[in-house]
Amino acid sequence: MSKKRKSINVALAGVGNCASSLIQGTAYYAIDHPIGLAHRKIGGYEASDINYAAAFDIDDRKVGHDLSEAVYAEPNTSRKIVDLKNTGVTVQMAQPLDGASGIAGEKVHVSRAKPANISQVLRDSEVNILVNLTPTGASKASEMYAQMALGSGCAYINATPSKVASNRKWQTVYKRKKSILVGDDIMDQIGSTILHRNLLSFLNERGARVDETYQLDIGGGTESKSALDKKKYEIKRNIKTAAVASVVPYVFPIVAGSSDFVDFMGNKRTSYFWIRGQYYAGANYNMDIRLTLEDGPACAGILTDVIRLVNLVQNNELGQGSVTDLISAYGFKAPPKRISPESVSEGIEQLLDGHGKA
Ligand SMILES: NC(=O)c1ccc[n+]([C@@H]2O[C@H](COP(=O)([O-])OP(=O)(O)OC[C@H]3O[C@@H](n4cnc5c(N)ncnc54)[C@H](O)[C@@H]3O)[C@@H](O)[C@H]2O)c1
Repeated sequence: MSKKRKSINVALAGVGNCASSLIQGTAYYAIDHPIGLAHRKIGGYEASDINYAAAFDIDDRKVGHDLSEAVYAEPNTSRKIVDLKNTGVTVQMAQPLDGASGIAGEKVHVSRAKPANISQVLRDSEVNILVNLTPTGASKASEMYAQMALGSGCAYINATPSKVASNRKWQTVYKRKKSILVGDDIMDQIGSTILHRNLLSFLNERGARVDETYQLDIGGGTESKSALDKKKYEIKRNIKTAAVASVVPYVFPIVAGSSDFVDFMGNKRTSYFWIRGQYYAGANYNMDIRLTLEDGPACAGILTDVIRLVNLVQNNELGQGSVTDLISAYGFKAPPKRISPESVSEGIEQLLDGHGKA
């Protein structure tokens, strides 16, 4: 007899564009939509089994509002997917820390509400997993949430480029408490990094040489605006470059993740890829590719898998250790341990065999 599934209680730190697409997407998949998920079921859990039990932000257009209203509030530009019903979950105020500074911070109207006791909220709302979706460069906020998740016994998913899952200090304390930590910097379901990695991996596998390559992005989200802050964005650019370069076993000139901001593009992003190299007998090839997509859904698509995978580990259905490394390598650009794309896909499919992935 099959066990009755409980919902996966998730809290969100940051109700920006990614959170908006994630929450709306969960409602979208509650109705039988067959397209757009890598895994319809993970361990018997559907996308719609994710329940948003708590949320934190610092913007007065979101704080104090029901989650169903906050997801559409400015400065979010992610596309409206569904009409959400009232959730009964009010967005709570957090300490702004570095989430309100820099170029991204210019768009935030910092609320005057008193910050909530985050650990208490996580415990009272029986949250299983805290997902960090604060802006790029908000390292202090990301670490504060890592501490709160740890203290409340929640698993922590760091979707931001701040170094948490790949930081030895956090790895050690999470291991000591037998808590789950995955990250860093979510790798889109389809996006510039995963596409660039797979193109290079394919060329390498076919014996072709990469002489030089770049990947340039333009977008209209807060994320692309943050990229104008060269210093704060450096960490993201380094993550993207390392993630792409790691699939080729030699050093070559590469630029990945240079971005510019075009206001009217909203939550859309266009990425330009250029690859030049040689194949059989020194013959030359040139590759020019353009990809346009929406940032929010690209992030939400993979998070929907990562949340359900973390839930399986939490329910002790998959064991820990190397499994969390595999989940980080599957869903993130800067995982604690790099694993080749082919081994990751194989590992995830093997993991799910027998765990109701159909
Ligand atoms: N496809 C993608 O969009 C994508 C891909 C990879 C990584 N990411 C990462 O995901 C994160 C979220 O991206 P986004 O596009 O949703 O960003 P966003 O700027 O739209 O949203 C960030 C939200 O965090 C809130 N915030 C700021 N400081 C906070 C704090 N201290 N506590 C709680 N909330 C706070 C802001 O008010 C805003 O609502 C970023 O770090 C980004 O790098 C996104």
